[in-house]
Amino acid sequence: MLCKSITRFSYCFTKNICKSFHISDNPSYSKNERTKYVNTNNAIKSPKILITGGLGQLGTECAKVLRRNYGNENVILSDIIKPTEESLENGPFIFADILDFKGLQKIVVDYRIDWLIHFSALLSAVGEQNVPLAVRVNIEGMHNVIELAKQYKLRIFIPSTIGAFGPDSPRNPTPNITVQRPRTIYGVSKVHAELLGEYYHHRFGLDFRCLRFPGVISCDPPGGGTTDYAVAVFHEGLLNKRYECYLEPHTRLPMMYIEDCLSALFQFLNTPNELLRRRVYNVTAMSFTPEELFNEILKYIPDLKITYKPDKRQYIAENWPQVFDDSEARHDWGWQHKYDLERLVKSMVKDVSNNFLPKHRLKEVNSYV
Ligand SMILES: NC(=O)c1ccc[n+]([C@@H]2O[C@H](COP(=O)([O-])OP(=O)(O)OC[C@H]3O[C@@H](n4cnc5c(N)ncnc54)[C@H](O)[C@@H]3O)[C@@H](O)[C@H]2O)c1
Repeated sequence: MLCKSITRFSYCFTKNICKSFHISDNPSYSKNERTKYVNTNNAIKSPKILITGGLGQLGTECAKVLRRNYGNENVILSDIIKPTEESLENGPFIFADILDFKGLQKIVVDYRIDWLIHFSALLSAVGEQNVPLAVRVNIEGMHNVIELAKQYKLRIFIPSTIGAFGPDSPRNPTPNITVQRPRTIYGVSKVHAELLGEYYHHRFGLDFRCLRFPGVISCDPPGGGTTDYAVAVFHEGLLNKRYECYLEPHTRLPMMYIEDCLSALFQFLNTPNELLRRRVYNVTAMSFTPEELFNEILKYIPDLKITYKPDKRQYIAENWPQVFDDSEARHDWGWQHKYDLERLVKSMVKDVSNNFLPKHRLKEVNSYV
């Protein structure tokens, strides 16, 4: 009887979490998984989560979502850069350099970490500008966190990317399993992470989880990737009604709004192991070209002037998937996106107008565009 009510309580907890992220209430989730975080006092025990590289485009928003669900104190944001006042507002922030193994060990022990969300990385365009640093951060840093996760039996999430594919991969659509062979150090480091994670899972039983994200679009400034134009155009467009695009108008790439990205991450983190046929899944929401995106934005900013000046990022984009096949994620753990192009643009215009414009001056925007 007691067991039944614990299971029920835990089930409701999971169901409520799922509701707030439009996550399907999958009846095949096992009882064991639902009760996993119920402690001996019958209270729900939230996992303690460390986010590395947490002050980047994805980290801060991810922390908000996890804190809403697991409590502010249970989610520790970390990075090597100085936090803003705002990023200190809702929970703990600490310094953590992923190249310092002992430092990471101390954090895991001191904070009794259960899950590690590893966001630290140099993205595609930035990585090409400093290959030795990208090797250190993306490969050596990843060795540190995966070894840490093995030692302390942590659940570890490492994002991968559409950039993990290359010119030999089928581009439309790009399936979950196919030839990869990327041509950027970013892509090479991500394939390395995928393979090492899978190996640690099969060899040591590590609970390694990885989603290949497409370009993620959010109000926050992006970190130097090839899909950044799809964020920058909102900032530039709303600030001064013009934008110079570094990709050709017909360059099609897979994309996703931040809310869908975090929803996928949250749902995937909470999926019982027995439903996962793979440790690495493609996820996406839509595919569009710069021209298609700008035409949609013109509905909100009719006097927006667009010019094109392709640079080295065009070459990177031409070797990436155009359409991402995420049918395995949809089949195995019920992934569903919510935002299409129309809805994405509507939300971004609102987000950037309300949250970004009042806080940031044009000068700051130009520094990463
Ligand atoms: N943003 C996207 O569109 C996208 C798409 C696919 C995958 N991803 C992946 O998601 C993750 C997060 O992406 P993002 O866009 O937030 O990146 P970002 O560049 O905005 O943030 C990365 C963070 O890593 C930190 N970092 C760098 N070196 C570090 C070190 N030695 N120790 C600790 N932290 C360090 C940086 O300070 C930065 O805050 C990355 O792994 C990226 O590959 C992102």
